[in-house]
Amino acid sequence: MLKISILTAYPEMFPGSLGYSILGKALSEKKWILNIINLHDFGFDDRKSIDDQPFGGGPGMIIRPDVVEKALLSLEKQNLENRKLIYLTPSGITLKQADLLEYIEFNEIVLLCGRFEGVDQRAIDILNFTEVSIGDYVLSGGEIAAKVLVEGCIRLIPGVLGQPESLLEESFSSNLLEYPQYTRPQVWIDAQNKKHGVPEVLISGHHENIKKWRKDKSIEKTKFIRPDLLKKI
Ligand code: 6GU
Repeated sequence: MLKISILTAYPEMFPGSLGYSILGKALSEKKWILNIINLHDFGFDDRKSIDDQPFGGGPGMIIRPDVVEKALLSLEKQNLENRKLIYLTPSGITLKQADLLEYIEFNEIVLLCGRFEGVDQRAIDILNFTEVSIGDYVLSGGEIAAKVLVEGCIRLIPGVLGQPESLLEESFSSNLLEYPQYTRPQVWIDAQNKKHGVPEVLISGHHENIKKWRKDKSIEKTKFIRPDLLKKI
């Protein structure tokens, strides 16, 4: 069973959103394990500090390598040979769907959440953390990014999603964005009293035509919004 260990200065932020919906249900059904480690438990002085000023000067505080090492050594040893260590940072490689599929093959994923100006580089290099970012924007800490990564992983575990076929048609497994979806009412009358129908083909009952329409819409949308994805097909 996949174990997710999270090293954080803000343990109260967990499980938070990870305790809800599909993930929360899977958590209480013990389809995955969440292990939250408070970095302050490994602080180095009587105030349990975990950070210090950067050598060379500059703003902010840096998490010390010895604190990260102690937190890591406190984890149970049974997954030592089969675990993935990830440090969440805007300076990392950008997370992709294919990475999530690789991560869930490990017995344990250890996520180090940065805060302040970051983590001492020696901790990352010597302890073997892969630096991962969730996109080209800056958050003030790694906790939300860790949740993004965890949510992306857990839903891929067999038996977690109610309808596993929904995984197949998703954006990013095919490198195409998803086609638009519609539901009732078939004619929506908006607050301005304007009528909006749904594409005719979807109520035709003609499965081949529906399939083709959806494929065409996917390609059209991808061309417009993410032309970079189309090059990968
Ligand atoms: Cl992983 N961390 C932070 N702090 N900001 C980010 C990020 C991670 N990914 C994108 N922005």
